[in-house]
This record gives sequence, structure tokens and C-alpha cells, in this order.
Amino acid sequence: MIDRLERFLSQRSAWVERELERLLKASGPAPIPFLAPAPALLRKAMGYSLMAGGKRLRPALVMAAAECCGVPPRRVLKAACALEMIHTYSLIHDDLPAMDDDDLRRGRPTSHKVFGEGMAILAGDGLLTWAFELTAENAAALRLEGRAAALLVRAVSAGAGARGMVGGQAADLSAEGWTDASLRGSKAGAARALLRYIHVHKTAALITASLEAGALLAKASPARQRALRKYGRAVGLAFQIADDVLDIVGDKKKLGKRGSDADNLKLTYPRLFGIERSRRMARELSAEAKASLELFGDVADPLRDLADFIVTRDH
Ligand code: IPE
Ligand code: IPE
Ligand code: MG
Ligand code: MG
Ligand code: MG
Repeated sequence: MIDRLERFLSQRSAWVERELERLLKASGPAPIPFLAPAPALLRKAMGYSLMAGGKRLRPALVMAAAECCGVPPRRVLKAACALEMIHTYSLIHDDLPAMDDDDLRRGRPTSHKVFGEGMAILAGDGLLTWAFELTAENAAALRLEGRAAALLVRAVSAGAGARGMVGGQAADLSAEGWTDASLRGSKAGAARALLRYIHVHKTAALITASLEAGALLAKASPARQRALRKYGRAVGLAFQIADDVLDIVGDKKKLGKRGSDADNLKLTYPRLFGIERSRRMARELSAEAKASLELFGDVADPLRDLADFIVTRDH
């Protein structure tokens, strides 16, 4: 299983890396006739974070979802890169001093450490908006009709925006600094509900949007779309629980980040449930995610493998 997944992920990552390189180059001199090139420093800042590695999980999910619904993975490569751009923007902003205040990401100094806060914010903004350009281009290339293209853009915006990832990040920030005493007693139930809200939104929403994008580009049936959304929500929550656990027990070198949850008094699964129970919850969610794939045959094996990887990973 691990071999099979490793081969799958490394092949998909290689496609994504190559396409991102190509896109970054194309945003420079000799642009499309009616567009001037993006300023050099902005391109450098976007490329710095985008090309720093990373598991490329979200693009792999876009492609795997499309493949499950009968469309070859490379035909959704632009949308896959778009989801990686939204994710990378979210990391650049997440690391800012006004948010988690981290100085290491993907094994490199964070964007604001290298380019300053202003340019880091703009690199994030540039990646986020670029993602929609690419999503629209992919829809056009696959000849999606107007309504289908609109629904695709809607799904990606909802997953990324205030009802999705940005909303989760806002709730994460509001819950920062709560003391242990404020999480006990009569407030325990509310804290658990809020924690679930935060994780489902800050992380599962964009993971779900990746699967939705692949499905919508492949013109999947409503039942297939529903199954993939269900998988996304479960696997996305499991992914963030695993991230919380790794923040405590993980090898910083492998993770490429230092882990700042304790310093920031973040509301996390290990903080409310302990490490062992959090791990168990993540495993249960991973099983739930796999169960939602019954509709699909062997084509969904990569998604099944990914659900296992997400809760056993060490990076
Ligand atoms: C980190 O995401 C941020 C979370 C949503 C937990 P990843 O663990 O996917 O980060 P990269 O893309 O591999 O760097
Ligand atoms: C961030 O969660 C999720 C995002 C939307 C970026 P974390 O703050 O836990 O992510 P890391 O641990 O810094 O990667
Ligand atoms: Mg954060
Ligand atoms: Mg963070
Ligand atoms: Mg984290």
C-alpha cells in the first residue's frame, strides 16, 4: 500500500511541480499580449513559497477525484495547481506575525521573513486570485457549459472563503489564548463544538473543495459528487487532527515547520482530548472517509490509500 501510494504521490507531485514552474515562467516577461508581466519581486515571492516543496496533497485530490469520475488526471492539472496556490497562500498568511507568527515553513524561512510582511501578504493575494484564473481556464479547456463552470468557481470560492477556510482561520484566531480553566466545566461542550468548527473549516473545507473541483470538471453525477464531498469532510478533519498531533510529537526537520500551537495557546484536538484519543478519532474519520467511497470501484484506491496515509504520516 505504502509503495503504491508513494509512486502515485511522487508522480502527481512531479506533474504539479512542472506545471507550476511553467505557470510561474509564463507570468513573467513575454506575457499574453493584453497582460503586462507581474512585478519581478512579487513573482519571486510567489515562486519562493510555491516551489518550496510540500506534499501537494490538494492537487493530488483534484486529480484523483477527476479520475474516479472518468477524466484523465492531467486534464485537470491547471485546477489542481489552482488548489495548491490557494493552499500556499493560506500558509503564507497563516505564518504572518499577526496570525501564528512562525518563521519556518516547508523547511525555509517564512515569506514575511524573506520579503517583508507587505510583500508576503501580496504574494498570498496574488496566488489566491491567480487560482481563479486557472480554474476558469481549466473549465474552458474542458468545454464546461456556463452553468457547470459557474458551479465549479462557486465551489472553489466557498471552500476558500469566509464560509470555508477563511472562516475557520478567523475562528481559530478568536479562540487563541484561551486558558485551560476556560475549557473545563460548563464550557467544555462549547469548546469541543468550536474546535470541530475550526478544523472542519480551516482545513477540511479546502480539501473538500479540491475533490469537488475534480468531480465538477469531470461532470460527475450528483451521487458521485456527494460521495466525494463526504470523503473530503472526513479526511480533511482527520488531516487537521493529525497536524495537531504532529505539532507536538513530530520531527521538526521532517515537517519543515517548528510547531507553535502551545506557544499560541491554540485550541487543538490533543489539548482537549489528549494525544491517544486524538489519534483514535483521526483513524475513525479515515475509516469513515473510505466507507463513503463504496460507490467507486478500484479507481478510488488512491483515495483509499490517501485516507490511510493522512493518519499515519510523519510529515
Ligand atoms: C499544512 O498543510 C496546513 C494545514 C492545513 C494543516 P500541509 O501539511 O498539506 O502542508 P504542505 O503543503 O505539505 O506544506
Ligand atoms: C492552518 O492550520 C490551516 C490553514 C488554513 C493554513 P495550522 O496553523 O495548524 O497549520 P500549520 O501547522 O501552521 O501548517
Ligand atoms: Mg494557524
Ligand atoms: Mg500555523
Ligand atoms: Mg498546525
